[in-house]
Amino acid sequence: MLTHLGIIMDGNGRWARSRGLPRIDGHKAAEESIHEAVEYCGEVGIKYLTLFAFSTENWKRPKAEVSFIMFLLSRFIKRNIDDLDRKDVRIRAAGRLDDLPVKPRSDLDAAIARTESNLGLNLILALSYGGRAEIVDAVKRLTADIKAGSKSVTDISEESISSSMYLPDVPDPDLIIRTSGEKRLSNFLLWESAYSELYFTDTLWPDFRRKHLQEAIADYESRRRRFGDIGGN
Ligand code: IPE
Ligand code: IPE
Ligand code: MG
Repeated sequence: MLTHLGIIMDGNGRWARSRGLPRIDGHKAAEESIHEAVEYCGEVGIKYLTLFAFSTENWKRPKAEVSFIMFLLSRFIKRNIDDLDRKDVRIRAAGRLDDLPVKPRSDLDAAIARTESNLGLNLILALSYGGRAEIVDAVKRLTADIKAGSKSVTDISEESISSSMYLPDVPDPDLIIRTSGEKRLSNFLLWESAYSELYFTDTLWPDFRRKHLQEAIADYESRRRRFGDIGGN
């Protein structure tokens, strides 16, 4: 069963550089890959797709690149919202959304509100997202509840921490794909990935197509997940 797929969409800059183009052209080219991934996940009945689009660390990048990525976020929503809504996709977001500039934030909020009752694929955009930041935010929320008296220290458990994450109803990712040859999580879903299967491919994100996704999923399906148990034999 593959219920939740996470993708660390990496390699846009190198894709552009290899063509003698500016880095931002790589981010532009990423839209087609996102499109195919969303289509494919919808078709095969994957319930949750989390795309790592912008990390808490990505704010360190040159201002012009950050602004362009934020512009692309608004443009992606504008160009795709009708189609996504028609396909019953529910748009969601995870991250420190308050850090986003006003325009992409309001476009995102509008897309989330418009698709809230859709029952198809949950398309989760991880934006200004960091796994450590998410854990910090969860601890703050729990601590506030304890201070207010609605929870006590003995209520702190894996379940209550999970319930304090950004999207508590979303199951942990079954499979995380990272493109571009880097073999690290770079702060993606740290708490939730405890038992995720990891798949690394050298393909750069703008080159990542349906067939690459099929390969990754076939690989995932050949694995045996044991979750610490002995797995039947
Ligand atoms: C991923 O591509 C997109 C973001 C992190 C926003 P990169 O921009 O990291 O591309 P490379 O890793 O420099 O090639
Ligand atoms: C991870 O990619 C973040 C996203 C894909 C949004 P990075 O390019 O930021 O990761 P590092 O710096 O190579 O670890
Ligand atoms: Mg990168």
